[in-house]
Amino acid sequence: MANTFTVLKTDAEICTRIQELAAEISAKYQYVTEENPLLVLCTLRGAVFFAADLIRALTVPAEIDFIKVHSYVGTRPMGSPIFDLGEHIAVKDRHVLVVEDIVDTGQTMATVMQNFADKGAESIQICTMLDKPSRRLETCKNVVPAFIGFTIPDLFVVGWGLDYNDKYRLLPDIMEYHPDSEES
Ligand code: IMP
Repeated sequence: MANTFTVLKTDAEICTRIQELAAEISAKYQYVTEENPLLVLCTLRGAVFFAADLIRALTVPAEIDFIKVHSYVGTRPMGSPIFDLGEHIAVKDRHVLVVEDIVDTGQTMATVMQNFADKGAESIQICTMLDKPSRRLETCKNVVPAFIGFTIPDLFVVGWGLDYNDKYRLLPDIMEYHPDSEES
């Protein structure tokens, strides 16, 4: 059986939604200042295009930095996420917005939020391009993104930064992906 791709969200739909999300986020963070701007933490590498477009559409003071958390192999979560970048970022007393490509079981965002809460962030919220709430683990029910691009069913998706074993990130639309049975 060959790999199959089905368009789920088009580039135009995603771009429109990002502008709406930026307006929602800007309205919510009216209180941030030039002295203590919103700290946007983009998860590498999947959220890089989403975060780049989002942060440039914000109308409140903001800074961007990057974190890296590994959790997937092929189409399957591999268990505990590994946090291997971002330890240097000073989050104490900062308003942190974590920008993620997709929230699935919730383990990655639970790890990230706990890490930054332990370091004394003033507030921590999640903005995710996609959310798969039906996949959330019981232990991660507290992972509730404040800003969601699109809520989707339990599908494996690629494109717009999302990958399958580092492939298909550059596809212009978000596509449902069915790997060749020998490849998955
Ligand atoms: P979680 O820890 O299970 O919530 O997984 C979140 C991470 O898994 C995301 O940052 C993605 O890297 C990856 N992931 C989850 N679902 C998908 C998918 O459908 N396509 C591509 N990557 C996914």
